[in-house]
Amino acid sequence: MKISVIGCGYLGAVHAAAMVELGHEVVGIDVDAKKIAQLAVGLPPFFEPGLPEILTSAMATGRLRFSTDIAEVAGSRVHFVAVGTPQKPGSYAADLTYVDAAVQALLPHLGAGDLVVGKSTVPVGTATRLAGIVEASGTGATLAWNPEFLREGFAVKDTISPDRLVYGVAAGEPGEHATALLNEIYAAALAAETPLVVTDFATAELVKVAANAFLATKISFINAMAEIAEVTGADVTQLADAIGYDNRIGRRFLGAGVGFGGGCLPKDIRAFTARAEELGRGESVAFLKEVDSINLRRRQRAIDLTVSALGGSAYNAKVAVLGLSFKPHSDDVRDSPALDVAVQLHGLGANVVATDPQGIENSRARHPQLTYSTDLEETLRGADAVVLVTEWPEFRHLDPAWVGALVKNKIVIDGRNSFDAAAWRAAGWTYHGLGRP
Ligand code: UDX
Repeated sequence: MKISVIGCGYLGAVHAAAMVELGHEVVGIDVDAKKIAQLAVGLPPFFEPGLPEILTSAMATGRLRFSTDIAEVAGSRVHFVAVGTPQKPGSYAADLTYVDAAVQALLPHLGAGDLVVGKSTVPVGTATRLAGIVEASGTGATLAWNPEFLREGFAVKDTISPDRLVYGVAAGEPGEHATALLNEIYAAALAAETPLVVTDFATAELVKVAANAFLATKISFINAMAEIAEVTGADVTQLADAIGYDNRIGRRFLGAGVGFGGGCLPKDIRAFTARAEELGRGESVAFLKEVDSINLRRRQRAIDLTVSALGGSAYNAKVAVLGLSFKPHSDDVRDSPALDVAVQLHGLGANVVATDPQGIENSRARHPQLTYSTDLEETLRGADAVVLVTEWPEFRHLDPAWVGALVKNKIVIDGRNSFDAAAWRAAGWTYHGLGRP
C-alpha cells in the first residue's frame, strides 16, 4: 500500500522504514530539511540500533523516499501523523501545535477514502476533535488513532513485531473502512497473531497514556521503597527480586535508581495530569504528581550521596560521570536523569567529566559548560568519585580493579544499582547504591 508518514523523528523515521519492511511504499515528510537530507541518504539523524540497516535496505527497494514537500503525499491512501507533542513551556499540558499543523497541511492533499492515522501521544479528546476537522474538510477522508508503544533502543523490533496493536476508530462504516486499511498495513503482524484491540478514539488515546503512567508508577513505586530501604538498612534490589517473583507483579520496571527520563514517560504523565484536571478529574490521577516527585527526588539523592561521600562538598572534586543518555542504547538526553545529575554536580563546583557511548553530542548542545570525554580512561583518571547514571553494558561490566588503578579515590555511587556491590567492595571501593545499605 502507498502510505505517507508525517514527522520523521524517533517515531516517524522508524515507522517509515519499518512500513517498507512490511511491504509498503512510503514517503516520509518532515519540515526539517537537514533531517530529510540525512534520511534521504539512509542516515538516521539520531542513534537507534538497527535503524541504519533497515533504512538502507528500505531505500534499496526504491519504495522509500523522503521529502519536505507535503504535496508528495499525493497518491498515498493512508497518512500517519507521527509528529512530536512536547510539554508546553511553563505548563504540564502537551503542545499540540505540530499535530494540528500536520493535519491542516494534509487536508488539501486528501481524497475520498483516504485515512489519516494519528500515532502521536495526545491528550484524550484530540482524535475526536481532529476527526471533526477531517470530516468537515469535505474531502471524504476519515481519521483513526493508532498509538505507538515503541521503546527507544528497541524501536525497530517494537515497530515490526509489536506486543499489541490498538486502533481507535469511528463508529459504523468509516470505522470499518479504517480497520480494513490498518489490517492491510499490519497484515504481517496480524498473521503472527499480534493481539489487536479495535476500540473508540478515547480508549485508544488513553491506552497509550495509561500504559506510560503505569510504567512510570511502577518505577516510582520501587524508588519509594528505596527511600524506605535507605532509612531501615534494607536492600531494594533484593526486595525487587523477591516481590518480582510474584508473577502478578513481575520483576521488569522494578529497577530502582535515578529514575525515569526521556521524551515520553515524564511529559506523558504530566500531560495526563493536566488533561485530567481540564476534565474535572484531577483527583483521579493526582498520584501521578507524587510519581513525578519521587522520580525527581532520586536524582537529588544521587547528588547528595556523592557530596556526602566526598566529605560534604563537591567543590573542586573531580567527578567522573558515567552516562548521559536517559537510558542505554539511546543518544536521547531529553529529561535525562543522568545529564541532570552531571549538570547539578557541576553547579556545585565539581570538576565533572562526563562520558557516554552515544549521548555526548546532544548533551553538549544543551549544556556546553560541562566537560565531556569520549575516552573512558581520561574520564576516570584522577577522579575523586565515580558516579554511574546510565547503565550501558560497557559501564556495567567495568572491572573495579582496572577502574581503581585510574582513580584517586575509590568512591563509587551506583545510580542504577547495576554494579556488583560485593565485587567493588572486595576491590577496595566504598560503594554507595540507591536504596541499598
Ligand atoms: C517508554 C515506554 O516504555 C514505551 O512503551 C513508550 O512508547 C515510550 O515511553 P522509552 O521512553 O523509550 O519508552 O524508555 P523505557 O525503556 O520505558 O525507559 C524509560 C525510563 O525509565 C528510562 O529512563 C529508564 O532508565 C527508566 N527505568 C526503566 C528505570 O528507572 N527503572 C526500570 O526498572 C526501568
